[in-house]
Amino acid sequence: MDATELLSGARVVPVVVMDDPDFAVPLAEAFLEAGLGAIEITLRTEAALDCIKRIATKVPDMIVGAGSIRDRGQFTQVRDAGGRFAVSPGHSNSLAVAAMDHRMPFVPGAVTASEVIALREWGYTLVKFFPAELAGGLKMIQALSGPLPEARFFPTGGITAESAKAYLAAPQVACVGGSWLTPKDLLANRDLDALSALAREAAAL
Ligand code: 3PG
Repeated sequence: MDATELLSGARVVPVVVMDDPDFAVPLAEAFLEAGLGAIEITLRTEAALDCIKRIATKVPDMIVGAGSIRDRGQFTQVRDAGGRFAVSPGHSNSLAVAAMDHRMPFVPGAVTASEVIALREWGYTLVKFFPAELAGGLKMIQALSGPLPEARFFPTGGITAESAKAYLAAPQVACVGGSWLTPKDLLANRDLDALSALAREAAAL
């Protein structure tokens, strides 16, 4: 199964920077309950792989994946932790080979026509578009779609609950992601009520 298929039911994907493995399962349960079926844990903290492992084990209905992939060894770590997909802000041939070797649904990153074309040669039509707002936002995605009609985008970076709506209305946008669903202070305070409210609002988009 490729990432397009795996994430087909997920229109909003929380992109989470998690420091607290003990909060991973309660957060994933709350998000699933709120209607979000996939979660991306960024490999930017020491706790990230442990969080993925705990969610994969205890909340099997949540599709958990890893973000911020930047070297091939991380595919092995993510697979061993039970992660079901991987996302990178960019791409390289060795990342594409590693994704294939690990049979890992992978969303590589692209923000230019050349990058989208290079990834198409590898069979990728779904690309992460990061940092979305700084890279031209929805207008840039729509402009790229003219000559690149098959491309589907997973924008992240600077997206908010308000801007997510406009992105999702565009047929080129498969799903949107971001950290607006998991503000640092709410994570630090383990504020499940407030986090669930943000997730419900996003699921309703
Ligand atoms: C990512 O890795 O996709 C981004 O860090 C998410 O961007 P945001 O924090 O601006 O939502």
